[in-house]
Amino acid sequence: MILLVTGGAGYIGSHTLIELYRAGHTAVVVDNLSNSNPESLRRVAKIIGVTEIPFYKTDIRDREGLEKVFSKHHPDACIHFAGLKAVGESVEKPWEYYENNISGTLVLVDVMRRHGCKNIIFSSSATVYGDPAEIPITEQCPKGQCTNPYGWTKSMLEQILTDIQKADPAWNVVLLRYFNPVGAHPGGTIGENPNGIPNNLMPYITQVAVGKHPELGIFGNDYPTPDGTGVRDYIHVVDLAAGHVSALQAIRRRCGLAVYNLGTGHGYSVLDIVNAFQRVNGVQIPYTIRPRRPGDIATCYSNPAKAQKELGWKARYGIDDMVRDSWNWQRHNPDGYPEE
Ligand code: NAD
Ligand code: WQD
Repeated sequence: MILLVTGGAGYIGSHTLIELYRAGHTAVVVDNLSNSNPESLRRVAKIIGVTEIPFYKTDIRDREGLEKVFSKHHPDACIHFAGLKAVGESVEKPWEYYENNISGTLVLVDVMRRHGCKNIIFSSSATVYGDPAEIPITEQCPKGQCTNPYGWTKSMLEQILTDIQKADPAWNVVLLRYFNPVGAHPGGTIGENPNGIPNNLMPYITQVAVGKHPELGIFGNDYPTPDGTGVRDYIHVVDLAAGHVSALQAIRRRCGLAVYNLGTGHGYSVLDIVNAFQRVNGVQIPYTIRPRRPGDIATCYSNPAKAQKELGWKARYGIDDMVRDSWNWQRHNPDGYPEE
């Protein structure tokens, strides 16, 4: 298939491009580079052995720009990663988040249907479950109250895409709810490249390991979990990327609307991650216990059985691979991609 990959220069998009090409697909990338660097695409091209990945520095809110890409490449389906994703920033700039993520997706979907491309895989998030009603979380678990505008954009976009598919059954909409993506391509040339101080646990740990911060703050050790720290379902980004290739099967069999959790089904605490990182990489991570972070929940991990049953997809990498590959990327690229 020919895939339009929005946000393809970003963390998950760049890893997904590799898996797509390996599976025999081709891709065209649209990204406004608001949170990424085109060097990622050059490195992806090198990994997969092509001269370049077709790339347009275009905003998904730019209707004319998208029209040109569709007229030239005629994609069969879109994998839609483009969006703003920083939880804290979304609380400070709700308008910017709703406008970018929701208006952007509305323009994209309109251009898609005008060009007869009615297949979309959407990057959703476990955040739509809010404080989940059941653990492990199945896709049947009711959606919950999000604690920030970023999360609401995911929840609302799921609803918007669901309604569009209901009104026009020619659409195939696959909602992928990611748990906590970490790790990097094992080659260490592409990885997560956060702007400023990372909000997420793994990039914070790797930045402590590389000496950018003196210590990790652990946000609470009094949760009702085995060691008191928060438990999450960390998933290697290469597994997550492969999940998108598997999700194309749902489109092929004309799924209509399909929702899948992409997680491992295992929960690890913050201390489990710190200990695994130290053990596997032989690097100490000093930490202090700090107050709980507002909006955090105690425990969140998936039941990924539906994706295995229907897509034949299962995470292959374990926690040791995740901490090894996160560190491998960071230590070889302490400042991320070079500034353009
Ligand atoms: P990322 O920021 O690395 O990638 C997103 C890409 O989208 C960036 O390259 C950015 O430049 C681009 N972009 C943003 N707004 C755009 C616009 N208006 N037009 C064109 N390009 C635009 O983030 P990521 O971690 O790779 O996440 C990819 C997707 O997965 C996002 O939608 C994110 O919300 C979702 N997601 C991420 C996580 C996570 O923890 N990383 C978890 C669940 C869901
Ligand atoms: C994991 C655990 C923290 C940083 C977020 C978004 C979610 C999704 C994935 C996009 C928690 C603890 C963290 C630190 C810490 N993104 N922690 N010290 O909160 O599960 O999910 O990213 O969709 O929407 O909310 O991930 O990596 O921020 O935190 O102790 O410096 O690590 O309290 O228990 P989270 P995270």
